[in-house]
Amino acid sequence: MYICLCNGMTDAQISAAVAAGASRPKEVYCACGGRAQCGNCTATILTMIRAGGDSAASAAPAA
Ligand code: FES
Repeated sequence: MYICLCNGMTDAQISAAVAAGASRPKEVYCACGGRAQCGNCTATILTMIRAGGDSAASAAPAA
């Protein structure tokens, strides 16, 4: 599933970046060969980082 449309980044790519040590959205963008653009994906990337790269966390409804 695409998480970042600006950079064409998928949940699998982001999970791999987090597993490789990315702990901030900027590091995830860099690891995936992209960069911050519109920022619409930042909250989802942060959620995935906090969940340890679990893409299912990004689909969980807000509490
Ligand atoms: S959707 Fe990720 S920077 Fe725009």
